[in-house]
Amino acid sequence: MKMNQCFSNQNVVKAVYGEWTDTKQVTVNLTGIESVLDNMSPVIKMWVFSNKTHIFLCRYHIEQATPIKSVIRSMHCNRILNGVMFMSDPFVVRSLDEIRFWSRIMKEHSFFLRLGFRCEDTQLIDEANQFQAIFEDIERRAHMYQENTDPQTIRQFNSEVYNAATHIWAFKRKVLGLILRCKLPGGNNFPLLVDHISREARYFSNRLDELNKGRLEPLADAIIDENVFFLKIMADHAKFIGHLLDPSERKLVEQAREFSHEFDTLMYQAIDLSSMRPQSQTHPLLSQFVDENRVSVKSLRDFKKTARDLIEECRIKSIIHPLLADHVFREAERFLFILDMFDRSLSGMKVNRKEILF
Ligand SMILES: [Fe+2]
Ligand SMILES: [Fe+2]
Repeated sequence: MKMNQCFSNQNVVKAVYGEWTDTKQVTVNLTGIESVLDNMSPVIKMWVFSNKTHIFLCRYHIEQATPIKSVIRSMHCNRILNGVMFMSDPFVVRSLDEIRFWSRIMKEHSFFLRLGFRCEDTQLIDEANQFQAIFEDIERRAHMYQENTDPQTIRQFNSEVYNAATHIWAFKRKVLGLILRCKLPGGNNFPLLVDHISREARYFSNRLDELNKGRLEPLADAIIDENVFFLKIMADHAKFIGHLLDPSERKLVEQAREFSHEFDTLMYQAIDLSSMRPQSQTHPLLSQFVDENRVSVKSLRDFKKTARDLIEECRIKSIIHPLLADHVFREAERFLFILDMFDRSLSGMKVNRKEILF
C-alpha cells in the first residue's frame, strides 16, 4: 500500500497523531477541513497515515459533536510494514488490556496485604512478597507483547496468568480464614478488604478463562453482571475510605458514608434487575441502568481523585496509603471505561427500543 494512496490531508493526520498515543478519546479541531469529514458517516472509518518510520492503518469511530468539531470516540491502529499488514486480533487486544490493568492491581494487593500483617507473620509476608514479584513480572511482560503478537502465544500467557490469579485468590481466602478465626490478632487487614481483593482476583481469572475459551457473555448479561460486581466494589471502597480516614476528618467521613449508602442502593437495584432476567433486559431499561450508574460512578471517581490528591499532598489526616488511594481511583476509572463501552454498544444498536436484547 503506497502512502500517497492513503491519505492526503496532513492537518488531520497531525491532529490525530499528535494525540493518539495515550488517550482513547481526543477532540480534533477540524477548522478548515470540514469537507474531509463531510463525506464520512459517524461510523467506523479506516484511515492510513505514517509517522517518520511506520505506516499505520487506523480504524476510528467518529461522532460529530459540533459543526467544527468531531470527537473520536475510539481508535485502533495496526502497523503496516513492507506492505504486510499486522492486523491486531481483538482477542489479543482484550487479553493484554485485562492483564495490563489487573496484574498491576494484583501486585498492589500483595503489597497492601503485607503492610497489614504483623512482624511475626514472616511466612505470610514471604508469600505476599512472592506474589508481588510474580505479578510485577507478568505486568512487565504484558507490556512487552504487542497487539499483533501471535494469538497462540497470548493464549499460553493467559493460561499462565490465570494460574497465578487463582493462586493469589487461594492465598487471599486463606488469609481471610485466618483473620475470621482470630489467628492474626493485631493485624491491620480488614476481613472485608481481604474478601474484596479476593473477589477482584476471581473476576480477573474468570475473565482470562472466558477469553481463552472464546465464551464472552452476551451484552445484555454482561451489562448486569459487570454492574453487580463493580457496584459492590465501589460500595466497599467507600466503606474502606470512611474507616481509614481519621475520625476528625468529619466532613470527608460523612461524604464517604453517603457514597457507601448510595452504592449499596445501586447494587441492590442491579441485583433486582438481575433477578428479573431475561424480561428486564430491554433496551430502555438497560440504557437507563447504565446512565444512572455512570452518573454516580463519576462523582465517586471525582471524590476518590480529590482524596488521592489530598493524601498525596499530606493535607488530610488518615492512615490511607497514597498507593491505596490511587488504586481505588484507578478501579473507578476502569468501571467508568466499561460503562462507556456499554453505552456505546447500546447506542449503536439498531433495535426496536422495547425489544429484549438477547
Ligand atoms: Fe483492588
Ligand atoms: Fe478494589
